[in-house]
Amino acid sequence: MNRKNEPIGIFDSGIGGLTVLKEIVRRLPGESTIYLGDTARVPYGIRSPETVTRYSFENTRFLLAKGIKLLVIACNTASSVSLDAIRRSVPAPVIGVIEPGARAAASATRNKRIGVIGTDATVRSNAYPVAIRSIDASIEVFSLACPLFVPLVEEGWTEGPVAELTAETYLKEIRQKDIDTLVLGCTHYPLLKDILSKIMGPGVRLIDSAVETAAAIQDTLEAQSLLRESTDQAGRQFYVTDSTEKFVRVGERFLGRQIDFIRKIELESEV
Ligand code: DGL
Repeated sequence: MNRKNEPIGIFDSGIGGLTVLKEIVRRLPGESTIYLGDTARVPYGIRSPETVTRYSFENTRFLLAKGIKLLVIACNTASSVSLDAIRRSVPAPVIGVIEPGARAAASATRNKRIGVIGTDATVRSNAYPVAIRSIDASIEVFSLACPLFVPLVEEGWTEGPVAELTAETYLKEIRQKDIDTLVLGCTHYPLLKDILSKIMGPGVRLIDSAVETAAAIQDTLEAQSLLRESTDQAGRQFYVTDSTEKFVRVGERFLGRQIDFIRKIELESEV
């Protein structure tokens, strides 16, 4: 098959990466996609870098076997700790969510003070501060882990008093840092955008890594002459490692569209 017509492969620890898929579909509706959500082992955000890297390789092997032309690591945690290792071992282009988000934040800030929120593992990895400061070393970066946001979003509690109080409590510290830009460094956080922007106020620009990543994918496909040529309708396949029911129910909310093709699979472990 013509390489251009092969699908884009996307993996995440679970459902959250659908925020990235949604932006890819919005920007590149003609591209076919295969999404893998490792729902049996979510969350990655509380695990060690070694474990997350092992899971990332297993996900990658599954998608490569499907014949993809480009790999997207939609999970911030997996991108933070395993992007370099995956990139070194995969023959196709690999796009993570950290670099696009860091680039957008570095160009958005005026006062050179940026906040980053994410899972524990993402914050501990320091991946966002390193990426932002490699673009402009004079930028100060303030990171904060907000672990309760993921279960809140999965419950569908993206508005109302519980979500508001949780966000207010977490963001209190970062609001005192005089930042003008805040990176939503986790797949789930774009669904809390309304609350986060209300709490941070109009002077703080929110950077949605999902939007920036979709733009980076388009740039890479164009630069490598890999944009799809076929005019047939683009395929949308979903694979999960746990039951399909919850993924479909919550996923359709994340995605804002129906999920028609979904299969439960077993990943082959390295050992
Ligand atoms: N997908 C993860 C991320 O973006 C959040 C969920 C998890 O902890 O696995 O960091």
